[in-house]
Amino acid sequence: MTDVAITGSGVFTPAEVVTNDELVAAYNAHADAFNAAHADEIAAGTVVAKPHSSSQFIYDASGIERRHVMDKTGVLDPEVMHPLLRERRDDEPGIMTEIALEACGTALAQAGRGAGEIDLVICAASNHERPYPAIAIEIQKALGAGGFAFDMNVACSSATFGIQAAADMIRAGSARRALVVSPEICSGHLEWRDRDCHFIFGDVCTALVIEPADEAAGAHFRILSTRCATQFSNNIRNNNGFLRRTRPGHMEDRRDMLFMQEGRRVFREVLPLVSSHIAGHLDAAGVTAAELRRLWLHQANKAMNDFIGRKVMGRVPDQGEQPNILQDYANTSSAGSIIAFSQYSDDLAPGDRGLICSFGAGYSVGSVLVERG
Ligand code: COA
Repeated sequence: MTDVAITGSGVFTPAEVVTNDELVAAYNAHADAFNAAHADEIAAGTVVAKPHSSSQFIYDASGIERRHVMDKTGVLDPEVMHPLLRERRDDEPGIMTEIALEACGTALAQAGRGAGEIDLVICAASNHERPYPAIAIEIQKALGAGGFAFDMNVACSSATFGIQAAADMIRAGSARRALVVSPEICSGHLEWRDRDCHFIFGDVCTALVIEPADEAAGAHFRILSTRCATQFSNNIRNNNGFLRRTRPGHMEDRRDMLFMQEGRRVFREVLPLVSSHIAGHLDAAGVTAAELRRLWLHQANKAMNDFIGRKVMGRVPDQGEQPNILQDYANTSSAGSIIAFSQYSDDLAPGDRGLICSFGAGYSVGSVLVERG
């Protein structure tokens, strides 16, 4: 079987940043306006008043300090509370393609490859801006790549599932060289008017080049093995979909047509799932935790990552063994662990091993065991 490697990575980071303080000020202004507009119903007990959010709570509960977004004007306008993004004509690239091109360009340059050498593009993300034609095919065309392309969505695990799909196809011979690209415009599916989650997400795009290890032009990470698992849960859910207009009331401004979660239950249920998933993966691969130089974990919550790091390593990981980027990016869905990998892997020496792991809605967990080549 062909040995497969990650030979390049790229991250597109939107220029606009929203700090917790800016976010909370906008949310609190929105809550005050809502409470004033519904004063009578609140007094009558038919509407619940919106309490204020707090920067301290956000930091303590999640570890997030700021997030990058594609548009902060709309997000921070108490009368809008969502990003405002220019509508693209059908004959110009969509916004997901636009940010994908930047991340793919960096990943290809690092791999020393031209886009024409790519024959598989997987757009692995938790949301796609339209059902068809596939965003991946638009990216393939804009890049000038060959072969075939398709979209896939496994929510926060999309990128790791995409790596497995690409690696398996290269091993099997149905593709030669792949780009797995994850444009995550999470600000579009976040309910910025909900105090419980308005701080969670940010926007980014990551890209990885995956190809036969013996063709790597420079430093690379051999994919030793991958493992994906799913287990149905409604605790992270979004009811938006193509049947929306067929259902009475679904075209209204409904809370369940955006990201919803039972955060506490997710926290409780996903931690054991991920810890045992990683332990099982390492065991099956014949690799011990002591051999891992780095854990690039999904970036949703610092306490979650601390817990998983401790469970996997059997001790508190040393500083640098389990890098977090969520303080600067917030949760960027499937892209989070790839940002961590991209930013914190250069220093590893040949033979060093590490594990990329993402997890989230589904539930879904994907892990990728790599070795520096
Ligand atoms: N500001 C101030 N207080 C807030 C608040 C905010 N923005 N949001 C919630 N609170 C309040 C709650 O109302 C609650 O008050 P109560 O105790 O009076 O009921 C209290 O703070 C605790 O809320 P809770 O939701 O239990 O907080 P938490 O400690 O569970 O942290 C998350 C919330 C979302 C950060 C955390 O549950 C989490 O990270 N879960 C997993 C998320 C995840 O991985 N999701 C995957 C997404 S892809």
